[in-house]
Parts: sequence; structure tokens; C-alpha cells
Amino acid sequence: MTDYKQLIQAALDCMHNSYAPYSQYNVSAAVLCASGKIYTGVNVENASYPAGICAERTAISHAVACGEKSITAIAIVGGKNFTPSDYCTPCGICRQVMREFCDPTQLTVIIARSTDDYKLMTLEQLLPESFGPQMLGK
Ligand code: THU
Repeated sequence: MTDYKQLIQAALDCMHNSYAPYSQYNVSAAVLCASGKIYTGVNVENASYPAGICAERTAISHAVACGEKSITAIAIVGGKNFTPSDYCTPCGICRQVMREFCDPTQLTVIIARSTDDYKLMTLEQLLPESFGPQMLGK
């Protein structure tokens, strides 16, 4: 349980770096990898709107860029104007990106408003019957 709080706190700590001048919807994520290390990411919007990227994907890309290949938990915080007021569930594209680097039955997704107010679910619950690397023999 303490690990969940630590991961949520890591996401809260970097939420101020979210770059969302168009939506004012700020999101931050922290992934825990099989190595035990934590990597964070925030949403980064763009004047060409589709070029923006979600916090979950920047966090996972951050982890992969540092050599990680396996994630075991991800904490997500989000809300308008840097206030983590929502239970910010991951978008469909982010669910699919998570799928690449985990066993969906084992990945814990933590949707948090604070270190004391969060929901836990597995990726399997959020993305059932998913298409993954195994389908391509990987
Ligand atoms: N956003 C995320 O970062 N993660 C999600 O799972 C949902 C949406 C971002 C994308 C965009 O910058 C803003 O929230 C509003 O959609």
C-alpha cells in the first residue's frame, strides 16, 4: 500500500511540469518498473493539437528511454488548472501503450486524486481481450 502512495506522490510532484495551455487539463503519471525504479511523465500539448501526447505515454517513453522493458504499476493524477481533482482514467491509446510493456493481469493502474484517495484496477479490466506482442510472436 505504501508503494502505491509513493507512486502517487511521484506523479503529484511533477504535475506542475504538465504543458497544457490549450485544454488547461493537466495530467501527470508515474510508472513503477520491474527494476524497482520510478519514471514520471506529463502531458505535453502542441499548437498543432494532434501532436500532443498524454502523460502516461511520456512516462512510459521515459522509462523505455532509460532501458526499461517491463512496468508493474502506473499512477495517474489529473484535473483542470494543476488541481488533481478528477479520477483521470487513461485514454485508449495509452491503455494500448501500457499493454506493450506488461502482463495485463499484473499491471496495477492507480487512478488518484491524492495519496489517500485512489482507485485500483488492472490493465486487464481497462483493456480486456487486448492485442499484444505475443500476437506477433514477441
Ligand atoms: N490526457 C492525458 O495526459 N492522459 C489521459 O489519459 C487523458 C488525457 C491529456 C491529453 C490532453 O493534453 C489533455 O489531457 C486533455 O485531453
